[in-house]
Amino acid sequence: MPTALYPGAIVDVRTGLGWDCHRTVAGRPLLLAGVKIESEFGLEGHSDADVLAHAVTDALLGAAAQGDIGMHFPDSDPKWKGADSLQMLHHAVQVVRIGGYEIANVDSTVILERPKLKEYRMAIREGLARTLGLSVDRVSVKFKTAEKVGPVGEGLSAEAEAVATLVRRAPSSE
Ligand code: C5P
Ligand code: MG
Repeated sequence: MPTALYPGAIVDVRTGLGWDCHRTVAGRPLLLAGVKIESEFGLEGHSDADVLAHAVTDALLGAAAQGDIGMHFPDSDPKWKGADSLQMLHHAVQVVRIGGYEIANVDSTVILERPKLKEYRMAIREGLARTLGLSVDRVSVKFKTAEKVGPVGEGLSAEAEAVATLVRRAPSSE
């Protein structure tokens, strides 16, 4: 016998995974979730190269099974040159909402050898939370070095990874 669903009951839970990588380069800003990090180098890219915003965007699109960032924002399109990645993230939030989902939480890791990022943790969480329409306690960001090993460890690139959980609720009965 089917169980009766009460309005607001969670009827679907989905997880999405995102990853991104950008080369380090002099003369560009280092942006993480729109927060400008004091650094002698920045990240190269067609857009503003906000590696964390891109990983979170792909986590959301992945959870909703709606392709990936390159499908929604092709880097061959001059429209997205220098694009604000928080706008791209906001687009992914809308895709999720149109699909009937709400975001339960986002967790992420930025892998960068230097500079130290932990003093920016709250500003970065707030930057993500604002764009995601979530309270800060639902948004996590962690930082890791690559222990001087590989391209990230040698300071040639930065990486970010993210997971997002979406929930869909039973409609209210009114
Ligand atoms: O990579 P590792 O385990 O050595 O990082 C230790 C701590 O240093 C991390 O947990 C994080 O708090 C901090 N960290 C940071 N900025 C980085 C890398 C790591 O603040 N770029
Ligand atoms: Mg990117």
